[in-house]
Amino acid sequence: MQFFAFVYDSFLWLGEVAGMRTRRSELLADARGRVVEIGAGTGLNVTHYPDGIAELILTEPDASMRRRLERSLQRNDRAARIIDAPAERLPLADASVDTVVSTLVLCTVDNPERTLGEIARVLRPQGQLLFVEHVRASSRFFAAYQDLLFRLWRAFAGGCYCNRRTVELLRDCGFDVAAEEAVWRGMPAVVHPIVFGRATRR
Ligand SMILES: C[S@@+](CC[C@H](N)C(=O)[O-])C[C@H]1O[C@@H](n2cnc3c(N)ncnc32)[C@H](O)[C@@H]1O
Repeated sequence: MQFFAFVYDSFLWLGEVAGMRTRRSELLADARGRVVEIGAGTGLNVTHYPDGIAELILTEPDASMRRRLERSLQRNDRAARIIDAPAERLPLADASVDTVVSTLVLCTVDNPERTLGEIARVLRPQGQLLFVEHVRASSRFFAAYQDLLFRLWRAFAGGCYCNRRTVELLRDCGFDVAAEEAVWRGMPAVVHPIVFGRATRR
């Protein structure tokens, strides 16, 4: 993952300036209370959290990413606790979190069902999952393209599954989902479309 962490911000740069940065900001404006971000990566969300949140916990299992995350917190003078943990095993108490944030992570976790189970476990009854994720294309042509490039993309993009049906997984794992779909402008077609929104426990 060292290589992926090294190229990550440069690879995403065009997508960030073409709209993803604004999307992050709009999504995270709704973060409240005790907030836990899974797979926080290099810290591209750090500047977008509202000042009023009670606590910010950033989880990230990859050491190269974590080093960049620490630097991002210092650079932006932002207070947060960084935890070395996979989203499948969050070292947090049941019903102790108001907002879980996942941006471009549910595509990468090894076990999405277990991850969503953990998110459901740590969320308080009125808690929310805020997400931006790229998902399997609804067009058969583009979905076949994603299936074709899947292995190559996964090897390059730190284990990312470009063809994962994340919204269906969320619903199957007991979440109500309010999501919109969009094109991830400035990024390759293999990661179109993205979905963004909020999920709550049913
Ligand atoms: C595509 S990056 C997204 C980074 C960041 N969330 C963003 O929006 O830019 C995927 C991140 O998920 C992390 N990751 C991979 N497997 C994970 C797991 N099982 N649990 C939590 N994070 C994981 C990776 O280390 C990486 O930082």
